[in-house]
Amino acid sequence: MSSSANHNSSTVAPKAFGVPAAELHANAGDTPATTSPIRHIYVHIPFCARICPYCAFYKDLLDRSQTWRFCEAILCELDGQRTCFEISPKTVYFGGGTPTALTTSQLEFLVEGFCERLDLSSLEEWTMEANPGSVSARKATLLRRLGVTRISLGVQSWEDNLLKVLGREHSAQQAEQSFYLLRRAGFTNINVDLMFGLPGQTTEQWELTLEKTIALQPDHISAYCLTYEEDTEFFLRHVRGEFRQDADTDAEFFEMAMAILEHAGYEHYETSNYARPGFSSVHNHAYWFGKDYVGIGPSAVSTVGMRRWQNVCDYRTYIDRVLCGQSPRAATENLTDEMKRMERIALSLRTRDGVSASELKRFAQETNEFIALGLLRKSNGNFVLTQKGKAVADSVAEAFL
Ligand SMILES: C[S@@+](CC[C@H](N)C(=O)[O-])C[C@H]1O[C@@H](n2cnc3c(N)ncnc32)[C@H](O)[C@@H]1O
Ligand code: SF4
Repeated sequence: MSSSANHNSSTVAPKAFGVPAAELHANAGDTPATTSPIRHIYVHIPFCARICPYCAFYKDLLDRSQTWRFCEAILCELDGQRTCFEISPKTVYFGGGTPTALTTSQLEFLVEGFCERLDLSSLEEWTMEANPGSVSARKATLLRRLGVTRISLGVQSWEDNLLKVLGREHSAQQAEQSFYLLRRAGFTNINVDLMFGLPGQTTEQWELTLEKTIALQPDHISAYCLTYEEDTEFFLRHVRGEFRQDADTDAEFFEMAMAILEHAGYEHYETSNYARPGFSSVHNHAYWFGKDYVGIGPSAVSTVGMRRWQNVCDYRTYIDRVLCGQSPRAATENLTDEMKRMERIALSLRTRDGVSASELKRFAQETNEFIALGLLRKSNGNFVLTQKGKAVADSVAEAFL
C-alpha cells in the first residue's frame, strides 16, 4: 500500500474534490437555490513570482500589467455572487498561486472591497497564503489591520539545498525573517507549510526541519508528502527515473512528523495537518465536513447544495469574461447522494474525528479486516484511523469507495 500522507488539494480547494475538472460538464448551469447563507469563501490568486517545478495548482507568472484588472474582476465576481446568494462568511481563504505576490495597494483594494461588500459579523477566520519571497513588514501590517487573522506561510524546508531543488524563490533565512515579521505585525495564528519525501532529502534533514519549525512555535503546521503531479517538471523527472519515490521512506518521514510534532504539543487533527490546541483551521474543517462554499477567481470551485461548478482556469479569459458581465463558470455538475457520501468518507477518514459507524455499516467486512490489521479503531461511535492507519489513510479510504 502506498503512503497517503500526501498533499491534499482540499486544503486550498482550487480543484474539485475527487472530481477532475475535465469531468465537470462544460455547460454553465443554473444557480442552485439555497435558503441558508454561504459561510465559506475561497478566493484564488493565481500569480507567482517564480513557478515551482513540482506545483500543479493553477498559477501563472506574475504579470504586473494584468494584476489591477484582475483585482477588479475578483470584486466584480463577488458582486455577482452576492446577487445569487446571501453570503455571511465564517471563513474567508485567499489561496493560490501566491496572494502576497500582489502589491500592498492591490491587497488593500481587495481586502477592503471584501469588507465593504460582505456582512463579516460572523467571521471567525480569514486566511491568506504567503510566500516568504513576497512578504514585507508593510504588507503584513496592512493585512493584519484590515482584518486578516491567519497567515499560511510556504516554508517547505529549512535546508537551502532542498529549497534550490524545489526551485523556491526564497532562502531558509528569508523564510525565518518572514515568520518573525508576521509575528511582529500581530499575527497570532500562523501556519507553516512543510514538504517531505523530497529528492535527496534525508531523515536527518527532515528531523532538523521539524525541530527548527517547532522552535519558531507556529500555531499550525501542514506537512505534505511530495506528490509527483502530472504536467509538472518533477513528474517528467520522476518518469525518467531521475527522482524516485519510495513508499516506505515516505511512511518513515510521515511517522517522524507525527511523533515529533505530537511530542511538541501539536494535535494531529488531519492526515497532513497539526495544530496547537484551538488552532485547527476552521476553513479546512468546512471542506472536510461537506459544507457549502463559494469559490471566486480563476479555477476556483464552488459547491452549493447538490451543485458544483468551476470557473475557467486561464486568468486572462476569466478577467475578460467577468469584466464584460459574462459568467466565469466553465463547468457545472449535479452531485448525487452517493458522490457526496464518498467524499464525506474519504475526507472525514483523514480527520481525527473519523467516519461515523452508520456511514460504514455496509462495509462490515472491510472495517473488521482493517481493525484486525490494526489500521482502524472504534471511538465514540466513529471509525478512526490508528497511528499505523494514518500513514495509509487514502488506501483505507479507497476500500470504502
Ligand atoms: C498553493 S501552495 C502555497 C502558497 C505559496 N504559493 C507557496 O508556495 O508558498 C500550497 C502548499 O501546497 C504544497 N504543495 C504544492 N505542491 C505540492 C506537491 N506537488 N506535493 C506536495 N505538496 C505540495 C506546498 O507545501 C505549498 O506551500
Ligand atoms: S509559489 Fe506556490 S503556488 Fe506558486 S508555483 Fe510555487 S508552490 Fe505553486
